[in-house]
Amino acid sequence: METPWNVFFCAVSPFSYAMRALVINEFSSPRWQDLPAPGVPGETLGNYALGSFDFYTNTPWIWGGLGFNFGMYILLTIGSIIALAYLHPETPRAQIPDQSQLEAARQQGEERRKTMNSRRMDANSVIIPVTPGKGTRKDSSEDDSNSEDLDMKSSRTNPALMHSPSSALNKGGQSDISSSLPFTPITLVFKDIRYFVPNPRYDKKAARAAARAKQTQAEMEMTKGSSDPTDPKAKTPPLDMTLMEELQLLKGLTGYAEPGVLTALMGGSGAGKTTLMDVIAGRKTVGRIQGDIYANGHLVEQRSWSRVMGYCEQFDIHSPAQTVREALVFSARLRMPPSVSDEKVDAYVDEVLDIVDLMDIMYNLVGIPGTNGLSVEQRKRLTIAVELVSNPSVVFMDEPTSGLDARAATTVMRAVRNVARNNRTVIVTIHQPSIEIFEAFDMLLLLQRGGSITYFGALGSHSQNLIDYLCQIPGTPELPNGYNPATWMLEVTGGSMATVVKAVNADWPSVYRESELCKSNLAYAHELVERDSKQCPKLEVQSQYAMPFRAQMSILLRKFTLAYWRSPSYNMVRLLVTLLVSILYGTTYYKKGQVGYPATLGEIQNVIGIMFSSSNFLGMTNLMSAMAVIGYERVVFYRERGASMYDPFAYGYAMAMVEMPYLLVQSLCFVPIMYWMVLFLPTPEAFFHYFIMFFETVCFYTIFGQFLVYITPNAGIAQVLGGLFNYLFNIFNGFVITYPAMPSGWHWMNRFSPPTWILYGLGVSQLGQSEVPMDPTLVDGQVLPVWQYVQQQFGYDYSMRWWCVLILLAYILFVRVTSILALKYWNFLRR
Ligand SMILES: Nc1ncnc2c1ncn2[C@@H]1O[C@H](COP(=O)(O)OP(=O)(O)OP(=O)(O)O)[C@@H](O)[C@H]1O
Ligand SMILES: [Mg+2]
Repeated sequence: METPWNVFFCAVSPFSYAMRALVINEFSSPRWQDLPAPGVPGETLGNYALGSFDFYTNTPWIWGGLGFNFGMYILLTIGSIIALAYLHPETPRAQIPDQSQLEAARQQGEERRKTMNSRRMDANSVIIPVTPGKGTRKDSSEDDSNSEDLDMKSSRTNPALMHSPSSALNKGGQSDISSSLPFTPITLVFKDIRYFVPNPRYDKKAARAAARAKQTQAEMEMTKGSSDPTDPKAKTPPLDMTLMEELQLLKGLTGYAEPGVLTALMGGSGAGKTTLMDVIAGRKTVGRIQGDIYANGHLVEQRSWSRVMGYCEQFDIHSPAQTVREALVFSARLRMPPSVSDEKVDAYVDEVLDIVDLMDIMYNLVGIPGTNGLSVEQRKRLTIAVELVSNPSVVFMDEPTSGLDARAATTVMRAVRNVARNNRTVIVTIHQPSIEIFEAFDMLLLLQRGGSITYFGALGSHSQNLIDYLCQIPGTPELPNGYNPATWMLEVTGGSMATVVKAVNADWPSVYRESELCKSNLAYAHELVERDSKQCPKLEVQSQYAMPFRAQMSILLRKFTLAYWRSPSYNMVRLLVTLLVSILYGTTYYKKGQVGYPATLGEIQNVIGIMFSSSNFLGMTNLMSAMAVIGYERVVFYRERGASMYDPFAYGYAMAMVEMPYLLVQSLCFVPIMYWMVLFLPTPEAFFHYFIMFFETVCFYTIFGQFLVYITPNAGIAQVLGGLFNYLFNIFNGFVITYPAMPSGWHWMNRFSPPTWILYGLGVSQLGQSEVPMDPTLVDGQVLPVWQYVQQQFGYDYSMRWWCVLILLAYILFVRVTSILALKYWNFLRR
């Protein structure tokens, strides 16, 4: 039936022009035009075929179609240019616009600050106040001259200099960020850490040939007896990178970090700072590690180690749809055991918000970097806070000040300093620190490119220890007056391009290895392990995750539910498209859901065509939009998995469950409208069967989209795979070519393809019982009821209709479980 909709969409659709041009091009060719049409005298077979599908027969449509689509291309390009020039995307919406909530938060923050400051004063504590200028410093043993703007310098005597007893012995008594939450101070020792990665440039053949050549040369020299291995004139060949199977990124590093001590990990770009931190934190996913890592004198076990550690990664990865406070409560709740009540978690989160100065923006949405939400510096502080709320004993921070201006870096470093003050063990990599920030560190581990130590020891007041050490080497230029010692240090050791002072031509790592400092460090590391192994218990945890499985599921579900609710662009668009599509189907196929009397082939094709195209279109819409959402969340998942926050099964369950209400609403937006307008079978069973199958269809496509993201390294590849699967589904689902007509060698593909069962189930429940006879001209004059025709033509059996529902359900469960296993075991995070 021609409706105005039909005519309009046909007239503007590039697909109809393309289809028409292709079809006319084919059927106007001599191989169709030279044959007569059966039973129509004077008509060619080509024109008869075109006419029976309501296509025009005049050939100008071939070039006309091409011209129309080219015109469309130009029009859309112009439209895009105009849109880019004049339209502005949605204005950044960073904040939940509830002023009263915000005001309450500010007041709460102010009160909390007051109580915390007074508590600190009462307790005669050494904690530095967050608000600059309000606190009192208890320690007077150090020079105060450079502390007016950054009151961060350690107030205790540097343990590295004194080799004082480790604070690890001082269990529980120390004041904390939150006095209500005790933690175990941990002394970290790493001994002789070596790390190797596969060499990407390794050439196996060349390496074998080189080994053979070397052996032959050695044999020849043995027989000649002329070579002297100690001959100084003998040249060592240049290092050929293609011959080395592995690259050594860390070359036997030994060091320690104690509670209450702030250690800086520095070195030029590519020196191996992140690598060392990853190795110690157990975050490496590739390569081979040698050496020992001790926590309180005992070799670490990753399970317990990751539970007591916070790792602030260099990149700030956060779920965009959470508020700052929600992000912290989420992290805190999942990383603290159930014995810590929700109230305590909340109170602790407040304290951390205060420490990192995020109280005023705690109800702001995190947002997407560069688009909306928090600024770079606020994100950095959030990254730190998300780790701190886990109440960690050891904190690693990779470049917490990168990309921040001086003021923001100072704020962040004040927070970091506070963390160390609270008897936590803190190791921070840092680039180009200001003098104030550099001198706020107690210890320095300076790495040389290639992964060796140039210096490890206390910085000393005004970096004096470091300066003295470097200046012992003949030729080291003096630190120019007022020059930043951090910059000077990197310049003289060749860690960065010299701007003021020249690099000293010395083998710094071997200077360190030979030094008294190195010997005393090794001895002290040994002593720490010896002493703590006797006095401290081993870190033990009962399970890998702090919270039980059910709690993980409900916390994750709460997070995703909120995130979905706040993602109208994802959900509303999906629902609106569905509504529009249901109305379009309803109007274009108005009352075409049932066959006439007798039934024609076209009518049967219409009925199955509606099922095929609607399920495929809406399914693919879901698949593609799910990919975009999951792509970003997966990066967050990797970070959270690294922190052992939850079991991937809990994550997979929550991810699937949160979709359910939306998919149900989507089905409600489609099936009832389309079903009654198209007028499919008006029986309750047929209607509910259709509804359930459609619900399963959108579920399947959505989780299949998620699955494709989980099994591919990036969203681009997932999308290409999505397109490929769609193509395969369309070819083999039994509509384009029916199961009986398919070459038997491909039957397995039809049975394997999930949309086969969608079409089978929907088709057979509508047509599988119909006793209406088929048009006798189609079936050689036989009286064949529709149900039998459908059985013969499509291979559909009515008794299978509910089995199709079950088969699709099995596919859904299978894909979901496989997705979770992929998340758990398949690692695309290569570091
Ligand atoms: N998996 C790997 N395979 C090969 N080389 C690697 C691998 N991981 C790191 N590297 C190399 O090891 C060196 C140390 O890298 P790392 O990221 O630890 O340096 P960094 O000191 O943190 O540098 P930056 O200051 O740039 O962050 C670099 O030269 C890097 O290219
Ligand atoms: Mg790095």
